[in-house]
Amino acid sequence: MTEYTVEFVGTEETVTVSEKETILDRCIDEGIAQEYSCRVGMCLACSAKIVEGEVTQPASRGLTEEEREEYALTCMARPQSDLKLRRGEYPPSIEAEAGEQTAAADD
Ligand code: FES
Repeated sequence: MTEYTVEFVGTEETVTVSEKETILDRCIDEGIAQEYSCRVGMCLACSAKIVEGEVTQPASRGLTEEEREEYALTCMARPQSDLKLRRGEYPPSIEAEAGEQTAAADD
C-alpha cells in the first residue's frame, strides 16, 4: 500500500494518507480541523485547492470537470502523489452559488 504526504499550505499540518483512503478520513483520525459536512461529495464544504500533486476523485455533482483538476473534495479524494493543498479556497461554482443566495437574501 502506497502512502503519500499531504501538506496543508500555510499551516503546520501534514498528514500521511494511503492511496486507498480519503484525505478527510485521515484528517479526522489525526484530529486535523478539515471542514466538512455531507461526506458524499455534494456540499463542497471539504474542498481544498490543489497547489501541487494529484488526486483521484469520482465525478461528483459538486465540481465541474475543470474544477476537478484544481480542487480536491477531501471527503472523496484519494492521493496519487504527495500533495500540497490550500484550505479555505472554494471552486468558482460554489462561490457563484453563494453569491446568488446572498443576492436572494438581500431582496
Ligand atoms: S463534505 Fe460535502 S462535499 Fe465533502
